[in-house]
Amino acid sequence: MHHRHLVILMIALCIVSPIYCDEFKVNGKVLELHESNFDAAVSSFDCVLVDFYAPWCGHCKRLSPELDKAAPVLSGLKKPVVVAKIDADKYSRIASKYDIDGFPTLKIFLHGVPTDYRGPRKSDSLVRYLRKFVAPDVTVIESDSGITEFLELAGTSFPIFIGFGLDESAISKLAIKFKKNAWFSVAKDFSEKTMALYDFDKVPALVALHPSFDEQNVSYGPFEDEFLEEFIQQCLLPLTLPMTGESLKLLKDDKRKIVLTIVEDETHNDSKELIKLLRAAASANREFVFAYVGFNQWRDFAEAFEVSRKTPLPKMVVWDGNEVFFAVNGSESIHSEDQGSQITLFLERFREGKVIEKSLGPSFWGYMMSLLGMRTVYIVIFLVAVVFLIATVGKDETLASDTQDPSHYAASGSTSVANNREARISNDKED
Ligand SMILES: *[C@@H]1O[C@H](CO)[C@@H](O)[C@H](O)[C@H]1NC(C)=O
Ligand SMILES: *[C@@H]1O[C@H](CO)[C@@H](O)[C@H](O)[C@H]1NC(C)=O
Ligand SMILES: *[C@@H]1O[C@H](CO)[C@@H](O)[C@H](O)[C@H]1NC(C)=O
Repeated sequence: MHHRHLVILMIALCIVSPIYCDEFKVNGKVLELHESNFDAAVSSFDCVLVDFYAPWCGHCKRLSPELDKAAPVLSGLKKPVVVAKIDADKYSRIASKYDIDGFPTLKIFLHGVPTDYRGPRKSDSLVRYLRKFVAPDVTVIESDSGITEFLELAGTSFPIFIGFGLDESAISKLAIKFKKNAWFSVAKDFSEKTMALYDFDKVPALVALHPSFDEQNVSYGPFEDEFLEEFIQQCLLPLTLPMTGESLKLLKDDKRKIVLTIVEDETHNDSKELIKLLRAAASANREFVFAYVGFNQWRDFAEAFEVSRKTPLPKMVVWDGNEVFFAVNGSESIHSEDQGSQITLFLERFREGKVIEKSLGPSFWGYMMSLLGMRTVYIVIFLVAVVFLIATVGKDETLASDTQDPSHYAASGSTSVANNREARISNDKED
């Protein structure tokens, strides 16, 4: 009885003044936050990962057990990461304060300051990703074995920079700036074997590694901010980037134009050969980002660049990363012989301005933004429009005499967008 009174008293105190509840217990469980203790929670830990969820959302339900699994591991790190969640549907004031426009949204609060979490959502890789947030900005390595340990800790999800014979102060400013995107370290002591392994022959040298793409590069300076930043920025992306929802986000932060190659299937042998050639072209033309996509892998994306089943592939375009892309007159597709010189010719003609400017179209752009920002609302509107479209096919007369009804009005508006897209695709087929 006594115990129950105490609990009631605690609850009452919590309601009257949330301060009494700010003693958050970190016991490896996901903290369930609410409106009144949210700010206190995110500012009382160095690093908090917050899941803004809605109880009705399916993705949230799938994410939840992953977070349950990650929470004890993360809270046990030398620099612990606390995992918390809040029903952002119910606590809408918090949701609007942090611009939550889709569920689930994950944010990391570092000393109370939020950044979007764009990393993986499976518990293992999420743990690996978050380790970086709490690791030092620049790891100081003392020996060859230290390099091995550092690489193991870093894993393969991010590019890795190792400064050999470089002082940490030379890269610390940029290491902080790019902390979200890469690992940074300096090696104080290392053997000649290491020099051979990382392919540099003098110091100071900054080596960039892309473990998941098996790529590496080295810069011998000058290690001045501007030059260094350009090198780091260029090495954040691999030489040729496979297009996925994730890489779309990476491209968003890169200002360069994108040389996009659309192949039939990324996994085919001839595509792999072509990707090798693209990589070589990318290394010689760093003012562009090179990317590729398989029609079979991501059809919607490929179709936006006027590719259909009948288009001769591979096809190359230059995309501004926004709504505009360029076909190059005379270099629309790459046939199978001597592809290397065709790529060179493509770039030459592009530079000479032999281009035909095209637009991705607002509906597709909206769709891509939805992938970027998880703007579920757009997707829902789009789906509703599609349902209306299906429901109104063959009922055109009824629709025409029924425009008073606002819902029908909305549906006919979306229909024209959809028709335009269909028209564009069928034009392709006639080409
Ligand atoms: C693709 O290449 C691999 C290794 O080079 C080879 O074993 C395989 O048979 C090739 N597949 C086709 C369809 O040519
Ligand atoms: C390495 O980086 C330099 C400078 O950014 C660049 O010019 C070169 O193409 C890169 N090489 C490779 C193989 O990425
Ligand atoms: C493409 O090039 C051909 C031959 O150089 C030229 O006749 C044609 O007008 C060009 N097309 C466009 C759309 O620029």
